[in-house]
Order: sequence, then C-alpha cells, then structure tokens
Amino acid sequence: MTDILTDIANGVMTITFNRVEKKNSITSAMYAAMADALAQAEADAAVHVVVFQGHETIFSAGNDIGDFLNAPTSTQDSPVFRFLRGISTFSKPVVAAVCGPAVGIGTTMLFHCDLVYAGDNAAFSMPFVNLGLCPEAASSYLAPQLMGYGRAAEALLLGEPFMAESALEIGLISRIVPPSEAAALAQRQAQKLAAKPLSSLIETKRLMKKSQASTVAERMVEEGASFGRMLREPAAREAFTAFMEKRKPDFSRV
Ligand code: COA
Repeated sequence: MTDILTDIANGVMTITFNRVEKKNSITSAMYAAMADALAQAEADAAVHVVVFQGHETIFSAGNDIGDFLNAPTSTQDSPVFRFLRGISTFSKPVVAAVCGPAVGIGTTMLFHCDLVYAGDNAAFSMPFVNLGLCPEAASSYLAPQLMGYGRAAEALLLGEPFMAESALEIGLISRIVPPSEAAALAQRQAQKLAAKPLSSLIETKRLMKKSQASTVAERMVEEGASFGRMLREPAAREAFTAFMEKRKPDFSRV
C-alpha cells in the first residue's frame, strides 16, 4: 500500500495521506513523494490546483517519531525541507480538507494552503516544545501574525491544541463542515478554481503572498537549522523514546 496517493483529474492534483494505521504520520519517503508530486504539479500546465487530504478521523499525526529518533533530518535538501519549500512557494492554489487531529507539520503546512475546509472534529496542534524541538514551516513567524502573539504562545510554547472554531476565527481555515463532507467540499472548491484562468490565480496568489515571501523563506532556513540541531539533543531524544515506549517523557534529567 502506498502511503501517499496522488491522482490528477480535471486540472486538480489530489494528494492523500494514506497511512491511517499510523495516524498518517509522515515518513521521509512520504515527504519525498509529496515534494516530487508538488514539483510535478508546478511544472504541469494541466494541473491548476492541488488538494491535500487525509482521512475523516485523522489528517496527520505529524512527522513519524521513529524517523525523528532513527534518522534525524539535517540538511536543507532533505525530503522534509524539499516538501516545505515546495508547498510554501507553490505558485498555484492549494486546498486542504482536514478532519481529526492535525499535529505538528499537519498544522504548519496549512499556513501555506490557500483554502482549508475542516471537519468539526479537526484539532490543530504544534507541540514542538513538548518534544524538545522548535517551530518549523515558518510557523514561528506565521502563527503570531495570524493568531496574535498571545494565542500563538499558547499554541507554540504550551503546545495546546485549538479546535476548528478557533481556527476559523483566526482565518487558518475557511469553513467548518461535518467530517463526512470536508473532502467533497474541498474537491468542489478546487474544481471551481480549476475552471478559472490559471494566470490570474497565480498572479493573485503571488501578490497576496508577496509581503511575507522572503521572510517566510529566511525563517524556514533559520528554524530548520535549530530544528536539525535540537533533534539530536537530550530533550528531544527523551521525548521520542518516551513516545515509542508509550510513557510520559521525563525532562528532569535533561
Ligand atoms: N509517529 C509515529 N507513529 C505514530 C505517530 C507519529 N507521529 N503518531 C501515531 N503513531 C502510531 C502510534 O505509535 C500507534 O502505533 P501502534 O499501533 O503500532 O502502537 C498508532 O500510530 C496509533 O496511535 P495512537 O497514539 O494509539 O492513536 P490515538 O488515536 O490514541 O492518538 C494522536 C492519536 C495523533 C493524538 C497520537 O497518536 C499522537 O499524539 N501522536 C504523536 C503526535 C506527535 O507528537 N507528532 C510529532 C509532531 S512534531
């Protein structure tokens, strides 16, 4: 079974997380598949829109913690950074359908989507600090911008989840629907976009993102350097080992 499914129909590329038994946590191979798919979608004039979706019960549990433990990322050309650069600079519209937990990069990737449709069971979280890590995907810049510093501090320093209503209020998502309807709504909206003139979509998105583009790119590099270092430090090693051993982490010794 392929953990990332891609499908192209009527101008829309749909990328599906398909690792539900591991809560759609994302391995290095899955980042590579998504980075390749985005590069293909960027280059293919027949693709006008990309849709990301998971399952009605889970969007994504974030990075695979076994990978964090056994194969920590370090270089900017690693699959996760290729994926993040791909989605954050993608020129055409990106739509997402999000139901259930969206953890870590499951939430931060949404800062780079244009339209997000969430099931009423969606729960967004960025628990990097709880894992001995720091933000990625320019979330240290984009979360305070979008949510205000106070709410971003609850999300990023405490690692507290926020629900669909809060995500709607801050504009991270566009609409809340029953989980069984999120994927279909995302597809309908993507089809509407795909029927519009592509050059107008690309230019409009570029202009809307222009004021933040260089800061986002710079912040992703700075975060990536810290993240790569922290993955190897004792706090993160303890958090990952505790997760694998299904126990609470003990940070008192690190
Ligand atoms: N990496 C690797 N495996 C993961 C995973 C992850 N990020 N998230 C879940 N899994 C695995 C679990 O180890 C478990 O595997 P097992 O059946 O072999 O024991 C399986 O997926 C089911 O997970 P479980 O925790 O039992 O499901 P749940 O419904 O109780 O909780 C979550 C779902 C998403 C809330 C919970 O799995 C979770 O918090 N995951 C870790 C999230 C995280 O910290 N991600 C990193 C962000 S940077």
